[in-house]
Amino acid sequence: MRKKIIAANWKMNKDVKETTEFFDAFLNGMKSVDNPAEVVVCPPSIGLHAAAKALQGSAVKLGAQNVHYEDDGAYTGEVSARMLKSLGVDYVIVGHSERRQYFGEVDEVVAKKVKKVLSSDLRVILCIGETLAERDGGVTEKVLERQIKADLEGLTKEQLAFIVIAYEPIWAIGTGRNATPQQAEEAHAFIRKTVAGMFGNEAADALTIQYGGSVKPGNAGELLSQPDVDGALVGGASLKPDSFVDIIKSSPAATKG
Ligand code: PGA
Repeated sequence: MRKKIIAANWKMNKDVKETTEFFDAFLNGMKSVDNPAEVVVCPPSIGLHAAAKALQGSAVKLGAQNVHYEDDGAYTGEVSARMLKSLGVDYVIVGHSERRQYFGEVDEVVAKKVKKVLSSDLRVILCIGETLAERDGGVTEKVLERQIKADLEGLTKEQLAFIVIAYEPIWAIGTGRNATPQQAEEAHAFIRKTVAGMFGNEAADALTIQYGGSVKPGNAGELLSQPDVDGALVGGASLKPDSFVDIIKSSPAATKG
């Protein structure tokens, strides 16, 4: 059994007041969810403190969207894993395609961040995924394999237990065009196979693989019922408390395996 993990990636949305308002409504809505999957909310750094306060005593976990790979120093504008840990953060999204695309984050940097997050006793949500041109060109598996190998290089299988992989086809992010459940399942099965090749079957079987890209209440149930889809990373549809609660409600608590 793999516990499902449903995570909200707010991206650059919501100020402090909006963050507090979200949690008032969201935590109220969560009262109607029984036997939920693990739930993680990742606000922008500026909202983490307010979110941590709102989540005191709640089972909902706090996540950050980015991190630097050094503990401290002359890195203007950056935030370290140690700082995130001190705020009560549990998860850090690493290697989101928007970071790769707009901020020049290459696999070498992603791999350093993964290692730093793990050595800071935090969990990683590692994002990988292909562009539309890569999918159309028939190289999806090649791209995924390259990212997995580069981003997880040098880790032990004990460390893998603290990693969640989010499969996020770039053509599905923010476009309203989600991968079909079959496309998601195929990619997830391939990711698991590749991870098994690096860390062994047992570690790969225990790995949570989320799907991300235009997940909404109307498609979450079907995507989350695929045998290798162990959760969702939700952008736009996580910004409204009701729609995020509906997505959580449509998820089984765990993947049978
Ligand atoms: P989306 O974003 O749900 O708005 O498509 C998902 C993501 O980028 O994590």
